[in-house]
Amino acid sequence: MILTKINLLNFRNYKKCNIKLNDKVNIFIGNNAQGKTNILESIYVLALTKSYRTNYDDNLKRKGSDFYKIKGEVKVGKYSKNLEISVIYNDKRVFINDTNIKRISDYVSNLNVIMLSPEDVETIKGSPSIRRDLLNIEISQLNQQYINYYNEYNKLLKMRNDYLKLIYTNSISDYRYLDVLTENLVNRAAYIYKERLTFIEKINKNIGEIFKTLSDVQNLKIVYDTNIEINNKTQKEIEDILKEKYYHNKQKEIVAGMTLYGPHRDDYHFLIDDNDIKIFGSQGQQKLAMIAFKLSEILIFEEIIGSKPILLLDDIFSELDKTKRNRLINYINDDIQVIITANDTVGINKKLLRNATIYKVENGKIIAKGDFNG
Ligand SMILES: Nc1ncnc2c1ncn2[C@@H]1O[C@H](COP(=O)(O)OP(=O)(O)OP(=O)(O)O)[C@@H](O)[C@H]1O
Ligand SMILES: [Mg+2]
Repeated sequence: MILTKINLLNFRNYKKCNIKLNDKVNIFIGNNAQGKTNILESIYVLALTKSYRTNYDDNLKRKGSDFYKIKGEVKVGKYSKNLEISVIYNDKRVFINDTNIKRISDYVSNLNVIMLSPEDVETIKGSPSIRRDLLNIEISQLNQQYINYYNEYNKLLKMRNDYLKLIYTNSISDYRYLDVLTENLVNRAAYIYKERLTFIEKINKNIGEIFKTLSDVQNLKIVYDTNIEINNKTQKEIEDILKEKYYHNKQKEIVAGMTLYGPHRDDYHFLIDDNDIKIFGSQGQQKLAMIAFKLSEILIFEEIIGSKPILLLDDIFSELDKTKRNRLINYINDDIQVIITANDTVGINKKLLRNATIYKVENGKIIAKGDFNG
């Protein structure tokens, strides 16, 4: 998959910007706070309809503007598609070839991106909800049904939580409506569990090997931590186990006023030799573990979608020592489009530069563009 061009209107510090991209390597260079990451962020937003840096669309509109618009052309083989996202006041719309797409699930997955950014270590260090968010984003790009089920799950979860509170405050003793909600909830829950488990199993097929290539350390794996037992179970079995759990903990949930079991409580951990790297890993190891995670995904995208995603690398080189940097470059071979930000080209591997178009960014403008000739 190739992003051939990207057009921005009032996005972050860009008033207007049209960029034609190289189908191999693109490097955006410039000083701090000029708008390099904003370019990657715009591609991410075009792909996934939301940012990883803010939950508020208003922050993405250029200060003083009441809208932003991002357009891009995506090529897969000989076919190309125009994607567009705009937020005008509070109205967010997405388009494929100028047709307004009503369901986000029909839109996401048309442009697949994998982003490596300084924020990534938060996935390891931060709260379980950050780790769940990452799973949701990645699985959504691979499976449209997942978003629908996930959204339905959240709606049902809220209804069930509200109803548990009502049972408590109004001393309701007829549980029939609760049972209906439970029945619907477990169906979506089991689907989400299965999809997450499958995804983590696929990551585990490659992450160890990739991590070893990058760092010389073996045995990195991810362990999925659920509050019911789901390994080797069918979807139906998971539904039954969860129903049973709710049945036995009904009073506890009523008193708590919330649903205590289900994938909204999921977590996962990165282990090296059974030690959680959140606790035992070095900074560098945590970074490399996230890089290995994201690189493992390339193979999953290839397997499921049939084409490679676009790799967005934000300031990744400055954080790695030279050996690790070169290993990363060697791993990213020629047949994937990469879009990179860096302060300058110093320290970037020559092999990468030879295929690259370099864009110099200054104050929300691309002030120069050309091939590397150093
Ligand atoms: N909504 C907005 N409207 C206008 N300017 C914005 C908006 N949001 C962010 N900016 C500006 O964008 C700039 C930051 O852009 P960006 O994060 O892309 O920097 P960068 O070039 O990646 O810098 P660094 O090298 O430090 O990572 C800042 O100057 C910031 O003030
Ligand atoms: Mg930046």
